[in-house]
Amino acid sequence: MLKKKKPFVIAIDGPAGSGKGTVSQKLSAKLNYHYLDSGSIYRVIAYAAQKENIEPGSINSLVDLVANSNIKFTAKNIWLNGDRVSDEIRTELISKFASEIAIHDKLRTAILDYQRSFCKLPGLVAEGRDMTSIVFPDADLKIYLNASVHERANRRYKQLISKGNDVNLSDLTREIVKRDSRDKDREVSPLVIVKEAWVLETDDLSENQTVDKILGLFKGI
Ligand code: C5P
Repeated sequence: MLKKKKPFVIAIDGPAGSGKGTVSQKLSAKLNYHYLDSGSIYRVIAYAAQKENIEPGSINSLVDLVANSNIKFTAKNIWLNGDRVSDEIRTELISKFASEIAIHDKLRTAILDYQRSFCKLPGLVAEGRDMTSIVFPDADLKIYLNASVHERANRRYKQLISKGNDVNLSDLTREIVKRDSRDKDREVSPLVIVKEAWVLETDDLSENQTVDKILGLFKGI
């Protein structure tokens, strides 16, 4: 009997500023795979909650908000109920709010199927904090991207400045350290290095070199 073909899944986790976003986008473009930026989902929910004056701790209101929101990804943009929110969800305020709401198990469960719906043929590159552990535990290739706090804060600084944001490097460093501990120390789906993951330290690697390293691992499977 013919076996049904399964999408090939590359799951990439790592802390804020580790380069997951750009690396995953480049990788999915090279392989012609689908792409899931799971952090954006938390960011869109955070943005919607802010607009509705919902507190990060109001879990039932957050779950209702998810049920009543239409989040859509197109090739270059992210949409909330028909409005383009691609830039609005990238501020430091929303980064903080997103990591505060991400601690709720009920919220994470509410968006699990939506995240898995991105898994289609020929394959998927999924990036976030729990791609390798919870969302795609059977992923074919698991990567943990890392970089020092100093390097990650610098990257984030350059990214925000280039978009015209007024930011301060020491404030950003402090925020990254706080976000790291919220993401790693929370009880539900913390950021962890699963045992099957290849850990790549990217301080001295360009984005393209990181992509090439992952492609090398992919070809070796
Ligand atoms: O990756 P990004 O910085 O856009 O994610 C924003 C926040 O969303 C993270 O700090 C984290 O708290 C949360 N997140 C998560 N699980 C994911 C992706 C993001 O908890 N899979």
